[in-house]
Amino acid sequence: MERPIAGDDSATTGSRVDVDTHELAALLEALSRYGRDADGALYRPVYSPAWCEAQRFLAQRMAAAGLAVHTDAAGNLFGRLDPAPILSTPTARSPLPSSRPPPTPHPQSAPSGVVLAGSHLDTVKHGGPLDGAYGVCAALLAVAGLRRAHGPPRRPLEVVAICEEEGSRFHANFWGSRAITGAIQPGEAESLHDADGTTMADAMRAAGLDAARLPEAERSDLACFLEAHVEQGPILEESGVPLGVVEAITGLQHLLVTVEGRQDHAGTTPMDRRHDALVGAAEMVLAIEAAAHQQGAPAVATVGRLECFPGATNIVPGRARFTIDVRHTNGATLARLAAQIRESCAATAARRGLAVHLQPLAAQPPVRMDAGLVALLERCARARGWPSRRMASGAGHDAQLLARRCPAVMLFVPSRGGRSHTPEEYSDPQHLARGATLLADALFALAYALPLVHS
Ligand code: GLV
Ligand code: MN
Ligand code: MN
Repeated sequence: MERPIAGDDSATTGSRVDVDTHELAALLEALSRYGRDADGALYRPVYSPAWCEAQRFLAQRMAAAGLAVHTDAAGNLFGRLDPAPILSTPTARSPLPSSRPPPTPHPQSAPSGVVLAGSHLDTVKHGGPLDGAYGVCAALLAVAGLRRAHGPPRRPLEVVAICEEEGSRFHANFWGSRAITGAIQPGEAESLHDADGTTMADAMRAAGLDAARLPEAERSDLACFLEAHVEQGPILEESGVPLGVVEAITGLQHLLVTVEGRQDHAGTTPMDRRHDALVGAAEMVLAIEAAAHQQGAPAVATVGRLECFPGATNIVPGRARFTIDVRHTNGATLARLAAQIRESCAATAARRGLAVHLQPLAAQPPVRMDAGLVALLERCARARGWPSRRMASGAGHDAQLLARRCPAVMLFVPSRGGRSHTPEEYSDPQHLARGATLLADALFALAYALPLVHS
C-alpha cells in the first residue's frame, strides 16, 4: 500500500488556494435548507426525502465545479477529478507510418490510488448545520479551488458525501463508510428497521437504490482519506488554537438495557412491595454516570434514550428500556469501564428484585490516524503560519472506518462553546474557511505534489 511520508515544508506549500469564507458559508447555508424545521433544527435521516434532495443539490454543485459525479450502491455521492490523459507520442526511433491513427489518450499509469476527502451528509435528530456537512463542503470547495488553480491532478481526487454516519434512523452507524470498506454483512439491510418498521432495504429502494448491490460499493483503490470536521467539543476554543490535527478517534460501545420489574397499581401497592422497573433503571443511570466520573477523562458515558412501559400516571412501571453509549480512547480501559457498568446494572437489578438484560448494539475500537498524514497536516499549517495542536476525537467519524482501508486523518476547527448534536452548533466562518484551506493544501500535496511513497 502507498503510505504518506513526512517531507519538508516545501513539498506542502504552494496550493495557492484560499477557500473563500463567504463562499463556504453560503454553501453550508444552502445545504442546511434540506431537512431544516421551522425552529431551525436539522434532521436529514438517511434515504429520507430531505436526504435525497440534499444529495441532488450537492451532485449539482459537484458537477458545476467540474467534477464527474457518481453515486455508489449504498448512496454515497462522489465527485471526481481525474488526472489529464497522457498522449502517446511517436519517438524518433519508431516513427509512425503515415497510415497509423493519431495518438490516443490512455489513462495515466502512475501514480495510482484515489485521494478521497469528505464527510457525511446525514444528521442526527434535531441537529445542527455543520456536523458532517462541513467536511463535505470544505472538500468540495478545496477540490474546486485546486482545479481552478492547477487543472487536473496527478493522482485522482474525489470528494465524498457519505450517506449515513450517525445511525439516527436505523441503528446503523457508519453505514456508508462500512459499504466502502466492504463491511456490510449479507442480509443486514433486510434485518435493520427504523422506528416505523421500514427496513433499510425498503428505505434504500424508496431512494432508488438496490440493497442487493451493496457489495459493489466496496473500494480497493483508495490512497488515503482526509476528513475535515467541527471539533464538537471545547478543547480548541478553550486553548485558543484554531486547528486540531486528530491523532486518534475514541472507541465506543453501545448497549440496549431492558429492565423487567412488575406492573402494579400505583395507589394500592405499598412502597416496600414494589418492583418498579423505572426506579431500578434510574439507579442504573446514576451509577453509569458515576462510573465515567470515577474513571476520569476521556471516559464518557451517556444514557440518551429511556422509555418505560406501559407509561401511565397511575401504574408502577413493569418494564424500562434505555441505551448506553460509553467511550474511551484506550481500548483496554473502554472494555474495563463497559464491564464495570454491566456489573453495576446487574447488582442494582438483583438488589431490587428486577431482571436485567443487556444487548450489545455496536462496538468500535479506538483507531489511530495515519502518522504520515498527521505530520503532513501539521506541516501545511506551519507553512501558513497557523497554530495547530494534536488531539483525540471523542466523537465517532467515518475516518475511523476508512482507516481500515487506507491511511486516514482528520482535521478539526473550533466549535463555539464546544456544542454539537444540537441546533445551536456553530463555528466561526473564518475558522471554517481556514480548515478548508488547510485541507486544500494537504490535498495539493497528496494529489499534485505527490508526497506518497510505496512502502
Ligand atoms: C457521531 O457523531 C457520534 O460520535 O456518535
Ligand atoms: Mn455527529
Ligand atoms: Mn460527524
